[in-house]
Amino acid sequence: MTTICLIPGDGVGREVVPAAAQAIATALPAVRFLNARAGWDCFVRTGSALPEETLRAVKAADATLFGATQSPTTGEAGVRTHSGQPVTYRSPILALRKEFDLYANLRPAAPLVASARALDLLIVRENTEDLYSGRERREGDTAIAERVITRRGSERIARVAFEQARRRAAQRDCSGRCAKVTIVHKANVLKVTDGLFRECCLNIAKGYPDVEVDEMLVDAAAMWLVRDPSRFDVIVTTNMFGDILSDLAAGLVGGLGVAPSGNVGAGRVAVFEPVHGSAPDIAGRGAANPIGAMISAAMLLDHVGEPAAAANLRRAVQATVRGGLTTPDLGGMATTQQVTAAVCDILRASTRATSAAQPSWATM
Ligand code: NAI
Ligand code: MG
Repeated sequence: MTTICLIPGDGVGREVVPAAAQAIATALPAVRFLNARAGWDCFVRTGSALPEETLRAVKAADATLFGATQSPTTGEAGVRTHSGQPVTYRSPILALRKEFDLYANLRPAAPLVASARALDLLIVRENTEDLYSGRERREGDTAIAERVITRRGSERIARVAFEQARRRAAQRDCSGRCAKVTIVHKANVLKVTDGLFRECCLNIAKGYPDVEVDEMLVDAAAMWLVRDPSRFDVIVTTNMFGDILSDLAAGLVGGLGVAPSGNVGAGRVAVFEPVHGSAPDIAGRGAANPIGAMISAAMLLDHVGEPAAAANLRRAVQATVRGGLTTPDLGGMATTQQVTAAVCDILRASTRATSAAQPSWATM
């Protein structure tokens, strides 16, 4: 039985995670859910944005589905909690990535409906280094950010990218060499840091003769993603370039409401999450698109070794969108619950009741 930890979080996270959980339970009846808390509301109530019992649930599960959490504005960050103690708030997803060394951020982009562009790519973004290492300082009127790139960090992210390229090629079942990794960097300017990143990626590439290797400067990559995304299969890149390019790629396939992601590392823990945040402007109205969370759930099912359930879930989501049943962000009028019910109906029709197992729910 597969055990999945659910962390809805705040705002629309509380709408899209239950929706995706319903879809998972329909696609894979032999599943057990652990419900866990994190986020701003949890912080205000308990004094912790990521309680110990949530970390235990994440560790106990085969994988975690995370919704979104809300970050307080600066003024709110120093609030007193129920115990009267002022505490500083830290983003739970960043804390989870750090706690479990989830160094690889997987961001696929593929259209849900037939599209004029041939586009089916995966951005593998390094999640722990680069300009986001937190080494920033002011020296008088000069502000300095240090860019940290290591051999260890670069080699391990490159390995993930080449493994993913192989896995995608196997799923496509194409004859001959159809896996490709494009190393995206700016080594012409950032000669030392991106020079090291590039060198490491090219070294790792030698171990994957079955995977085609290409490289591209990040500015050119942005242009080609818009002009002809069919040039790309897997892109491997550093933290900040990956952050920016993956939002660009999400924009090409329907926007934030449908963009999925996964955070994986060397250990057993893996956390899958829609790319969007808590969307306070639409939270509580039943207007949130559950598809980003559902495709993240499909990635999770692939990760835990349930590719058939993953493929069924993806097909059900595609059929629902193709049928024109969409939330307002995709131009439709359907609610979160109507989209979810449609996806589950299609899943039920396609999933033969081979198992009498019922999903079980537990709260942690
Ligand atoms: P956001 O992603 O929450 O919203 C941006 C826009 O996209 C809004 O117009 C929103 O209505 C729309 N949108 C987002 N998700 C949608 C969905 N499922 N269906 C339909 N439309 C959707 O980003 P924003 O507004 O910058 O941030 C809001 C809060 O979320 C902030 O507190 C931010 O810190 C937090 N956040 C959390 C993330 C996480 O937990 N991983 C990631 C990004 C933001
Ligand atoms: Mg981002």
